[in-house]
Amino acid sequence: MGTDKDTHTDIIDFNITNRANDFIIRRCAFDDLELVKEVNEKELPEDYPFFFYKSILDNFPEAFLIACMKDDPEKIIGYVMWRVEKTPSKHSLRLISKGHLVSIAVLKSCQRKGAASALLAKSMYAIKKHNLKEYVLEVRISNYSAINLYAKFNYMTEGIKKKYYKDGENAYYIVCKAENL
Ligand SMILES: CC(C)(COP(=O)(O)OP(=O)(O)OC[C@H]1O[C@@H](n2cnc3c(N)ncnc32)[C@H](O)[C@@H]1OP(=O)(O)O)[C@@H](O)C(=O)NCCC(=O)NCCS
Repeated sequence: MGTDKDTHTDIIDFNITNRANDFIIRRCAFDDLELVKEVNEKELPEDYPFFFYKSILDNFPEAFLIACMKDDPEKIIGYVMWRVEKTPSKHSLRLISKGHLVSIAVLKSCQRKGAASALLAKSMYAIKKHNLKEYVLEVRISNYSAINLYAKFNYMTEGIKKKYYKDGENAYYIVCKAENL
């Protein structure tokens, strides 16, 4: 149902950023979604219903990636997912395409080994085919790990979204121009 039958064979080693060299990055498949949801629920306060994951997978499968243990490819340790939005340009009524990071997380026990960097690098490259002008995302102002991660990818803060999260915390709205990649 809209998912790529080849996802399990689309396995890419990301040795450049895979410092521990013990995980692989591959495209998510429908059968992976329950485990992706589990990683999300362990690592982030924002939960999504199953159909939401499925709709992202159906619409943007090329940039819905997971990190798995090399010696146990069914064990998902992290994921990233994006959607593409069309919004008016700042300078004209013309619509421009933006890649919006929906979510990224890595299991605590596997963090700081380059998994998020590998997921981000590969997914940003994959979603670029939609002729993106920029990549955008929101991040909690207290989430230093994620803020540092995005800074390494040249994301810049463009503003603050007040009380963006359900618990009232503000978000930084940060942007990376596609031309900078
Ligand atoms: C943010 C997150 C995805 C990073 O995952 P990761 O696999 O540990 O990230 P990487 O190993 O690729 O680290 C890349 C960079 O991120 C930054 N970083 C990651 N963890 C950090 C930490 N605990 N403290 C400070 N900086 C950190 C560093 O700049 C790091 O580069 P370095 O190791 O060369 O210093 C992970 O901490 C996580 O899943 N957090 C919970 C979910 C979340 O907050 N998601 C983001 C929502 S916007």
